[in-house]
Amino acid sequence: MESVTLNNGVEMPTLGLGTFKVKGYEVVRRALDAALGQGYRSFDTAAVYQNEADIGRALKELLPAHGLSRGEVFITSKLAPADQGAAEEGCRRSLAALDCGYLDLYLVHWPGRQGWRSEDPRNPECRRRSWEAMERLHRDGKLRAIGVSNYTGGHLRELLAHCRVRPAVLQVECHPRLAQSELRALCAESGLHLQAYSSLGSGRLLEEPVVRALAERLGRTPAQVLLRWALQQGVGVIPKSTDPRRIAQNARVFDFRLAEGDMRALSGLHSGTRYCWDPSTVV
Ligand SMILES: NC(=O)c1ccc[n+]([C@@H]2O[C@H](COP(=O)([O-])OP(=O)(O)OC[C@H]3O[C@@H](n4cnc5c(N)ncnc54)[C@H](OP(=O)(O)O)[C@@H]3O)[C@@H](O)[C@H]2O)c1
Repeated sequence: MESVTLNNGVEMPTLGLGTFKVKGYEVVRRALDAALGQGYRSFDTAAVYQNEADIGRALKELLPAHGLSRGEVFITSKLAPADQGAAEEGCRRSLAALDCGYLDLYLVHWPGRQGWRSEDPRNPECRRRSWEAMERLHRDGKLRAIGVSNYTGGHLRELLAHCRVRPAVLQVECHPRLAQSELRALCAESGLHLQAYSSLGSGRLLEEPVVRALAERLGRTPAQVLLRWALQQGVGVIPKSTDPRRIAQNARVFDFRLAEGDMRALSGLHSGTRYCWDPSTVV
């Protein structure tokens, strides 16, 4: 498993298992068991996924069975938008649910606050309070790294201007149809690692003709091609699957490279299409 060194020296695997909509203890346990067996060492969850307790319980059971300890896995969770401005409480609830001592990475899930309109002028001050609380939790050793998700360039510049602890990671939707070149450039110049979510377009890019043709020519699967496109540009990935065969398939992405022309063909698919939410209206 390859990893990246974050701007605070913490090592983070570049491939992790996404767990949005992975719910129910048996489903979670089966997915994590398959993932650990295939070499995954990173797990992405969030308070709003409502699976933190099941993930924590499954890891407690599975780590010894795989000959691993807590320190050998990387756990990411995210501040619920309902807890924006009250990150201390939100984070402590995630820590209690996961029962894993500390989090490797904690992200502000969304730049706004749940229940407030996107244009609510209180949003900037509210996310600033979240960040300050996360800085304290980081200093106390509860969060090894802190970052943000669904931030636009504007949100990120605002944070960079006031933070005392620089964000280590920006997690955003990113795939060939939403290449995020501006955010990637901003992250590169500001020292953040960009991590993609919905690399497979939540499954909807797997039938894309250019992706399929390339996969067929290379003897790979469409999912592997899409994940490789990101990894080859230094972008981390967290594909979600509950299917052990697909979990295994999605991990076999470090033994081939896409040629320049193939990378260009995939990048040529950019159309600004989002399969998830658009944070650009949040002030
Ligand atoms: N920060 C945020 O706001 C945010 C937003 C969205 C997602 N995320 C994170 O990113 C993760 C990934 O994003 P995502 O869940 O939207 O979608 P994704 O990883 O792009 O795609 C997942 C979908 O593709 C299917 N799939 C996975 N591997 C496959 C393969 N090899 N062949 C065929 N189908 C395959 C899965 O079905 P099966 O399970 O049936 O295999 C599922 O339907 C999430 O789980 C979550 O952890 C974060």
